Amino acid sequence: MDVPGYVVITGAGSGIGRACALAFANEGAAGLALLDLNYDALSSVKSEIEAHIITKNDPKTFQLKIYALNVADEDQVNKIVSEVAQTFGRIDYLVNAAGIAMKHKGGAAFVDTLDWKRIFDVNLHGSFYMLRATCKVMLNQEPILSSIDGRPLSRGSIINFSSIQGVVGLPMSTAYTTTKHGIMGLTRTASEDYAKDGIRINAICPGYTETPLTTQPDVLKVMLEKVANSVPMQRMGNPKEIADGVLYLAGGRSSFVTGTPLFVDGGYTQR
Ligand SMILES: NC(=O)c1ccc[n+]([C@@H]2O[C@H](COP(=O)([O-])OP(=O)(O)OC[C@H]3O[C@@H](n4cnc5c(N)ncnc54)[C@H](O)[C@@H]3O)[C@@H](O)[C@H]2O)c1
Repeated sequence: MDVPGYVVITGAGSGIGRACALAFANEGAAGLALLDLNYDALSSVKSEIEAHIITKNDPKTFQLKIYALNVADEDQVNKIVSEVAQTFGRIDYLVNAAGIAMKHKGGAAFVDTLDWKRIFDVNLHGSFYMLRATCKVMLNQEPILSSIDGRPLSRGSIINFSSIQGVVGLPMSTAYTTTKHGIMGLTRTASEDYAKDGIRINAICPGYTETPLTTQPDVLKVMLEKVANSVPMQRMGNPKEIADGVLYLAGGRSSFVTGTPLFVDGGYTQR
């Protein structure tokens, strides 16, 4: 999939972030920096990669680092991104997958301010802190050539996590939906800033996907009813299917794509 460089993935301890970590390792990335609040979960993903993935790169040079990180903590983000850049020498791809969701009983009129702020801190501010710190590294590094053919040089590629809720509203989901709309704005404006510099910034918009975020018993029941009625493919997505979209946006095959959302949603948003 043409991802020969070094990748940083947030939320890599679970669900879609974990699937992205496995996919980049499997597709021959030179190195992975996996970031998450949950260090134990990262350790398991690391063991899984070391045990099962035969990288297409030389195993002697392949690097796999894990870091406990709260993306909502600006200072921690700056420190760890700069540590990763020093360790790898560069950062070619950022996958901004860390995110949290919640439903607000009673809807917008009853949203607790602390919940609102917490969801903004992680989903929107956290993605922005990661993007800002990583863009600074990317702007100062030499471009690399695509490994598939003679396409123009790329300095870096950033994939932000929006959602189908980046373009539609769903009930009882005020804060989450607002942050995912915000991610679309962040993606569009930042992509304009650096398109001429060889940095591409896109958003992935997953539909209903089977991960710990969605498969808690109370959430899953509602989710399955919605899927049956509103997803043309009548099923939930698998995290690997979202990771495939991320690989496309990260690598050279999307060399002329920037500032755009990629919907991986079983047809949900075309309705
Ligand atoms: N699962 C879905 O149906 C779905 C649909 C659309 C969009 N998304 C988005 O995809 C992304 C991944 O979701 P998922 O379903 O894999 O969720 P998940 O809960 O399985 O994984 C999220 C990971 O993020 C980590 N995390 C949470 N807060 C963090 C913080 N402050 N700092 C660092 N790490 C933190 C968690 O520890 C966890 O490992 C999220 O941005 C989510 O909004 C998911």
